Amino acid sequence: MEKIKSGVIGINSLLDGGVNRNSVTTVIGAAGSGKTTFATQFLRRGLETGYDGLFISLDENREQLITEAKEMGWYNIEDYMDAESLIFIDANGKNFSEFVREEMPNFVDEWEGSNTRIVIDPLTPIIWANENRYTQRELLMLLFKEIKKIGTSICTLEEHGITGDLSGQETFIPMYLADSVVHLRFVRNNSTTQRELEILKCRNSKHSNRSHYFRIIRGFGIIIESNPDSRSKNKKTTKNIPKILKANLEDRLEGIPKAAKERIHKSLERLTDKDFEKIDISYLVEGILEDYSEEDSGS
Ligand SMILES: Nc1ncnc2c1ncn2[C@@H]1O[C@H](COP(=O)(O)OP(=O)(O)OP(=O)(O)O)[C@@H](O)[C@H]1O
Ligand SMILES: [Mg+2]
Repeated sequence: MEKIKSGVIGINSLLDGGVNRNSVTTVIGAAGSGKTTFATQFLRRGLETGYDGLFISLDENREQLITEAKEMGWYNIEDYMDAESLIFIDANGKNFSEFVREEMPNFVDEWEGSNTRIVIDPLTPIIWANENRYTQRELLMLLFKEIKKIGTSICTLEEHGITGDLSGQETFIPMYLADSVVHLRFVRNNSTTQRELEILKCRNSKHSNRSHYFRIIRGFGIIIESNPDSRSKNKKTTKNIPKILKANLEDRLEGIPKAAKERIHKSLERLTDKDFEKIDISYLVEGILEDYSEEDSGS
């Protein structure tokens, strides 16, 4: 199974090396759980090493995406849009059956054989567009089949109702049809709320079977925390983390793309020790290097 790096620090090893090339991954989670962040990181990682990106939004318009991406530390997102390596499609309010059956195939003809990274955020309205579950399934099968011809996709999926109850038809159909499923959720421990992630499925891969805490840090996005056991043992607090990180990275980031290096350096200027609470510095540095360790690119 050929793998590509996800752009999410710490998750590649949980997916047996990364996301399966030319596959569809569904990222499921409740409101604010980090779905768009996950998807954006995946696109950004590709664009930084020469992939093309396609963002199909059913939720936000172009300006909203740009504003939010910048707010989260992706400062040069517009450069990719201007260069047309990142194409944004506002599918809001479209007739989705028509979009999937007629517009998609045209698009695919044009892009077939490319190695694009694709995001559909969120998939939910496409499923809701039909009440009949056979039509829902058929439409999704067609969509997944078509987008696999042009690259590797992340489709986000809204989770409604009780967390972890993934038996509703709007979740189980895409879960069956996707090659991989990642579940993002909030866990409440006493008075604190933490974010955690679990790989529910990853075809042809030896994936992690347990839950992993993660954080969202501006400029980096989702970062899987290192093993919780080491975290509870490691109680000492390090000071000046952004500065230490900067020095560490200065020496080590030689091989990573210029755009990534600039983004990370720029982000570090705005971050404080509090942002890195519970994150081990050497783990983070190794994680960044790991994610850029392959020369995978769109060409
Ligand atoms: N360091 C941070 N800086 C800014 N925002 C952060 C940070 N950490 C967490 N967040 C929050 O992370 C959340 C994740 O947002 P994201 O848009 O990815 O979630 P989502 O699952 O796509 O939500 P929705 O269902 O509303 O589309 C946002 O609410 C954002 O405010
Ligand atoms: Mg979202």
